[in-house]
Amino acid sequence: MSEIKVDFNRPVAVGNEFEYMRQAVENGHISGDGPFTRKCHAFLEQELGVPKALLTTSCTHALEMAAILLNIQPGDEVILPDFTFVSTVNAFVLRGARPVFLDVRPDTLNLDESRLEAAISPKTKAIVPVHYAGVGCEMDVIMEVARRHEIAVVEDNAHGLFGKYKGKLLGTFGALAAQSFHETKNFTSGEGGALLINDPVLVERAEIIREKGTNRSRFFRGQVDKYTWVDLGSSYLPSDILAAFLFAQFEQCDKIQLHRRQVWEMYEEGLRDWAQAHGVQLPYIPEHCEQSYHMFYMLLPTLELRQRLIAYLRERGVYSVFHYLPLHLSDMGQSFGGGVGDCPVTERVSDQLVRLPFHNALTGAEQEQVIDLLQEFPF
Ligand SMILES: Cc1ncc(COP(=O)(O)O)c(C=O)c1O
Repeated sequence: MSEIKVDFNRPVAVGNEFEYMRQAVENGHISGDGPFTRKCHAFLEQELGVPKALLTTSCTHALEMAAILLNIQPGDEVILPDFTFVSTVNAFVLRGARPVFLDVRPDTLNLDESRLEAAISPKTKAIVPVHYAGVGCEMDVIMEVARRHEIAVVEDNAHGLFGKYKGKLLGTFGALAAQSFHETKNFTSGEGGALLINDPVLVERAEIIREKGTNRSRFFRGQVDKYTWVDLGSSYLPSDILAAFLFAQFEQCDKIQLHRRQVWEMYEEGLRDWAQAHGVQLPYIPEHCEQSYHMFYMLLPTLELRQRLIAYLRERGVYSVFHYLPLHLSDMGQSFGGGVGDCPVTERVSDQLVRLPFHNALTGAEQEQVIDLLQEFPF
């Protein structure tokens, strides 16, 4: 047993996180929508060019807000990739929607846009593409189909902040987009998220839903003289202490993204020949996509090899993980009629995928250890 210890993820302060958290307390405003939350909103709006960004307590909650904003009702259908996190689907099922799981492309593991048209019915109310690993879905096709059928698009951009599709930033295509600032993401506040609102018509109601269904935001801006309950809603705004932490990370945006790019490229260069020799599939980035450098994954030839590889690394102190299980085969997915064989690509890649250690403090020496161990893995 060696001394190596390489975490899969490690949270790290990269700049003024603690100083800003102290300032948040001294500001006398540690509930939501304080000075640091406003700084985060301005940062996202400027960097992404979106009309409105609202911090939320998680990406899950940003997706829940999207479902309320789109008036999703019992019986409505929502189309999403089968290979995604439960929150992508749960947010809509909470409102009574029936999920329609679409299989993914074998190259990018994104929703297979060629299957989209056939999945649409008169009940379809939303399409929720997920930019897996921060590599853009085929948004030209998805937006064209959505426009023609007058269906809203909500981008689950949990992985994709600063990724681009054909030069346009991910999160700026759909009427709405959801970001995540969970511990594992490029930028984090531990738990956190944001709703990006590209359709200005939705802004005022989004503020109400986020503030427990009240018009409190308008009250604080002096636009109404009292605030009251006007709509559905919940408490979706994070403490300004969390926004302070997050803003310090945003300030180091270039540094973080550069480091993550170097991590990704070192894995890719170090593993390219090895992968080819052993039938391991590395991430595919189409020429017209700029990725967000969120994760590095590999597809092993079989489930048995994937499990053996994770155990082999773990025994040597390197923590790697698999990712999503096919949603249609989960207990909930089966209750909506999912069965084996419905989404063969997802069923296969879910068995084969392994994610390598990837975080903002990962060193070149640690990566070398991971790469060296992989080179020695007995296939
Ligand atoms: C694609 C996707 N959507 C949504 C989420 C939920 O994010 P959060 O933990 O911020 O709620 C995740 C979590 O990692 C995710 O991978």
